[in-house]
Amino acid sequence: MQFWLDSADVRSIKRFSTAGFVHGVTTNPIMISKQSHGPEILIPELLKAFDGPLAVQVVGDMTDGMIHQAEKLYELNPRILIKIPVITEGYAAIAYLAKKNIPVLATAVFKTQQALIAASLGAQYIAPYIHYMEEQGINSLREIENMQLVLDNQGLEAELMAASVRNITLIETMAEIGVSHVTLSPEIFEQYFSSFAETVYANDSFTKHWLEYLEISA
Ligand code: E4P
Repeated sequence: MQFWLDSADVRSIKRFSTAGFVHGVTTNPIMISKQSHGPEILIPELLKAFDGPLAVQVVGDMTDGMIHQAEKLYELNPRILIKIPVITEGYAAIAYLAKKNIPVLATAVFKTQQALIAASLGAQYIAPYIHYMEEQGINSLREIENMQLVLDNQGLEAELMAASVRNITLIETMAEIGVSHVTLSPEIFEQYFSSFAETVYANDSFTKHWLEYLEISA
């Protein structure tokens, strides 16, 4: 499983990536708008904060506009992964960018149909939004399992990246059904990577015994 951090907060990114936990970072326009710096300053800061891919979303609902933003972002730094919402105009942007070998994360995915289209057009990652699917009455686990099955059976290279994960138990369920990427908010990341009390106790006990042994043998 590759763990991505869903955040535009430089401090959180540095914290989790310095520990070596973060494969990549995903952002969205809402989280970028909440930061004190605008995108011109913020995006270079985010890129400096860690080493991997940084997903930045285009805005609007016109294919040309999405392509223009995507090309500018990719020109700024090829580590930028372009997030494109899977509306019809977004599909056309995905098709265009894939032909230019510009990597795309198809986002705001609710249905297998959208995943199949985006993956067939050449998107590299597909992000189903677990929480928002549930809000729409979609059984997110069944739908994502179906997306994974369709991608596998079609031999498509796109990989699923589960997003809007509000509960850590879902991470293992995603792993079980073959989803290879998850993007987690700093709060969920923190919860998932925190130590189990029993393991802390075991580790303390090993350390205590080893120190006692060293004292005896000195
Ligand atoms: C994905 O990349 C989005 O940023 C994310 O799914 C937003 O989800 P949330 O609103 O549950 O945090």
